[in-house]
Amino acid sequence: MGSVTLREVRKLYGTFEAITGIDLQIGQGELAVFVGPSGCGKSTLLRMIAGLEDVDYGDILIDGVDVTETAPARRGVAMVFQNYALYPHMTAFGNMAYGLRRAGLPAPEVERQVRAAARMLQIEPLLDRKPRAMSGGQRQRVAIGRAIVREPKVFLFDEPLSNLDAALRIETRAQIARLHRELGATMIFVTHDQVEAMTLADRIVVLNQGRVEQVGTPREVYHHPANVFVAGFIGSPAMNLLPATIASRDGDRLTLSLGADLGEVGLTGAYGGRAGDSVTLGLRPEAMTLQADGIPAAVTLAEHLGAETILHLTAAGRTLVLKSPGDLAAEGGQTVAVALNTEGACLFDAAGQSLSGRA
Ligand SMILES: Nc1ncnc2c1ncn2[C@@H]1O[C@H](COP(=O)(O)OP(=O)(O)O)[C@@H](O)[C@H]1O
Ligand SMILES: [Mg+2]
Repeated sequence: MGSVTLREVRKLYGTFEAITGIDLQIGQGELAVFVGPSGCGKSTLLRMIAGLEDVDYGDILIDGVDVTETAPARRGVAMVFQNYALYPHMTAFGNMAYGLRRAGLPAPEVERQVRAAARMLQIEPLLDRKPRAMSGGQRQRVAIGRAIVREPKVFLFDEPLSNLDAALRIETRAQIARLHRELGATMIFVTHDQVEAMTLADRIVVLNQGRVEQVGTPREVYHHPANVFVAGFIGSPAMNLLPATIASRDGDRLTLSLGADLGEVGLTGAYGGRAGDSVTLGLRPEAMTLQADGIPAAVTLAEHLGAETILHLTAAGRTLVLKSPGDLAAEGGQTVAVALNTEGACLFDAAGQSLSGRA
C-alpha cells in the first residue's frame, strides 16, 4: 500500500506556472526526496499530493486510485510541516490522540496507539507536556507521532528538520530513516538541503523551476548527473564546471582544450561529442590533487576541516575548488600545483545536457 503516481501534474498561480507538467511514479515503501532550490515548487507539489492545493491539470493517483478531487483527510496521507503545526493548548498526548478521538476510536485503543508511537519516537516522558514546554526537536517528534498514529499509506514531510539546530537535525534525520525501515511506509520528504536528500533518499527527485531535472538514486545523481543544473546542485562543495572544446577524438579517447593557460586534458570513456564541439567538463573537487608537475594555481582560501581540506583556487582566471582527505599544509596566498583526474568525470554539451554514456 502507498504507491503514488503523478500524471502531467501542473499548477498555475495566475499566469505563473509553478509546476510545469510533472510525471512521476513513487513505489510502495519507497523514501523519495524532492530536493531543489528555494521557490522551485517542492512544497506546492507536496501540498498537491496532500490535497491542500488544487491541481490545475493532470492526475494524482494513490495505490492506483485517482485522488485528484479527493478531500485531504480521505487520501490516506499524513503531513509533517516545518513549523510543527501543533495545537498549543493540548498536551503532546492530546495532539497525537486528536485525530484518533475524532475518528471515534475507543479510549483504550487511542491510549495504546499513542503510547506505541511515543515509544518508537522516544517521547513517552513528554506526553503530558504542552508544546511551549518542549524544545523544537521534541515538538517535531510529537508532530511525527501524530502522523504515525494515523497509519497513513503515505507520509509527507515538508522540510521538517529546517528549524532544528545542526546536531538535532542529524539525530532527527536518523530517526526518520529508522522509522522508514520499521514502518515500511511510503515517504515523500521535501528539502532544499542536498545532504539531507543524499543521506535519506532511496530515490532523489531534483526539481528546478517547477520541472523535474532528474530522478535517480543518490549515487546516480552524484556520479551521473543528467545536466549541469544537477551537477552543480548535488555535492558540496559543488562540482567544478569548466568550459572546454573537444580538440580531437580517437575512438573513446577525447582530448579537451580547457583554454590557453589550463592546457589540454584527456578523457576516456563512453562520451558523446565531436571534435570542435563546445562542452563543459565537470570535475568533482575530490578529482583534483596537488601534484608537483600540475597546473599552477593561487590559493584564495584554505578551509582546514580536520579530516579533510578544501582549497579555493584560481588558475588561469578560473575558479577551482579542490577537496582532499587529511590536513593539507596549504594556506591562502600560496601558489600550489594542481592535477586534474578526469577518470569518471562528467561531460555536458553546449545546452548543458550530459554527454556521458552517449558515445
Ligand atoms: N499561493 C501562491 N500564490 C502565488 N505564488 C505562489 C503561491 N505559493 C507559491 N507560489 C510560488 O510558487 C513557486 C513555488 O513555491 P514553493 O512550492 O513554495 O517552493 P519551494 O517549496 O520549493 O521553496 C514560488 O515561486 C512561489 O513564489
Ligand atoms: Mg517549501
